[in-house]
Amino acid sequence: MSEQTKFILDESQIPSAWYNIIPDLPAPPPPPLHPGTGQPVGPDDLAPLFPMELIRQEVTGDRYVDVPGEVIDVYRLWRPTPLFRARRLERLLNTPARIYYKYEGVSPAGSHKPNTAVPQAYYNSIEGTKRLTTETGAGQWGSSLAFATAQYGLDCEIWMVRASYDQKPHRRTLMQTWGATVHPSPSRATNAGLAVLADSPDSPGSLGIAISEAVEAAGGSAQTRYALGSVLNHVLLHQTVIGQEALKQFELAGEDGGPDLIVGCTGGGSNFAGLFFPFLQEKMAGRMNPVIRAVEPSACPSFTRGIYAYDFGDTAGLTPLLKMHTLGHGFIPDPVHAGGLRYHGMSPLLSHMYDLGLFEAVAKPQRECFAAAITFARAEGILPAPEPSHAVAAVVEEAKRCAVSGEPKVILTALCGHGHFDMVAYERYLSGEMIDYDLPQDRIEAALNSLPEVPKG
Ligand SMILES: Cc1ncc(COP(=O)(O)O)c(C=O)c1O
Repeated sequence: MSEQTKFILDESQIPSAWYNIIPDLPAPPPPPLHPGTGQPVGPDDLAPLFPMELIRQEVTGDRYVDVPGEVIDVYRLWRPTPLFRARRLERLLNTPARIYYKYEGVSPAGSHKPNTAVPQAYYNSIEGTKRLTTETGAGQWGSSLAFATAQYGLDCEIWMVRASYDQKPHRRTLMQTWGATVHPSPSRATNAGLAVLADSPDSPGSLGIAISEAVEAAGGSAQTRYALGSVLNHVLLHQTVIGQEALKQFELAGEDGGPDLIVGCTGGGSNFAGLFFPFLQEKMAGRMNPVIRAVEPSACPSFTRGIYAYDFGDTAGLTPLLKMHTLGHGFIPDPVHAGGLRYHGMSPLLSHMYDLGLFEAVAKPQRECFAAAITFARAEGILPAPEPSHAVAAVVEEAKRCAVSGEPKVILTALCGHGHFDMVAYERYLSGEMIDYDLPQDRIEAALNSLPEVPKG
């Protein structure tokens, strides 16, 4: 039997269109609402923040959106990404499962985030934007946008969640190397940051606070816009290059029946959606039948313990109201090392699909994830970022189940980033200092008490 390990596509097979799942769903997701009027937000409400083409992509009913040639030219730097068969991990676990991972850590920034940073920077550049602001948790998204803005000659200003700013100084330097300005969040540079610091001078920050700061900073000038690294429909759309390539690579691997299980970690949901949407299209057409499973941190369990309601996307309440699985916009997750998963909400599109029962979700504590990531690294060599270590933990769990049951399940996951800038986290785990956090129900309920009233539209 062939021991082929990597399934590689040619540059000519970079997808030429992104796949939009919305027209294939039984019902469209509920629209974002204006917090003042309770009416769906229109293009004019979003125009100060995003270029028109991204606003169009946010609401489009077209099944495919063409990838511009100028974006494909930058994608060529690292796409198509390899699909690996994790033969060494399978042997180590003594499992009959066949495990595949789509490795997005080969991008310049080391994760899947440039798949959307590049088109976002591109559309901004052709619509006259001079500067982009954004937030970053782990620093993966911030470095991706810093890289992408450097490709198209834009300035970039980034609010980095304090917990990660302190733990990952080298991510910060990477962003600065690509020319970006980086603030710790909460910062003294915005009203939103000052308000948090007044109450809580040692705040570890959160993605919700950093989004408030970046959105506020974008509002000040006509040539400045804001870019979001997850959550929104256009971001999930751009990430479908992952799943489209993986589908072709599954054919190369001779796995014509497709995967039995697709697993992905979820912060705002973009790498998971990007991987599984093209496979769900196949499932809906009756050509394959995978179980699809999201994995979130038990310190920030928006699917498994949050509620499905309209809430703000940021802490200060500057964004439209989004219907999503949320822990409440005031919820500040404990400082787990997977900074990119510390978000109180979830993509509205994924939340709607979860509500429709199109996939399932589980939550995992960080020590189980790091244990699995170390097992993975010792077998496969690649060091997972703390975020996909959640997906790796769920893969290892399933592969061990298969070892007991004898089922030769085909498992697919996205290894959406490497952990080379996360050595402090690995060091804490290896030295036994890493802790798991309990999340008492009353902390969730307290944050959910401040959900906004939706005005009658
Ligand atoms: C490597 C990595 N994986 C996953 C995530 C979570 O985001 P998403 O759920 O949008 O993929 C992040 C976010 O920063 C990240 O940096």
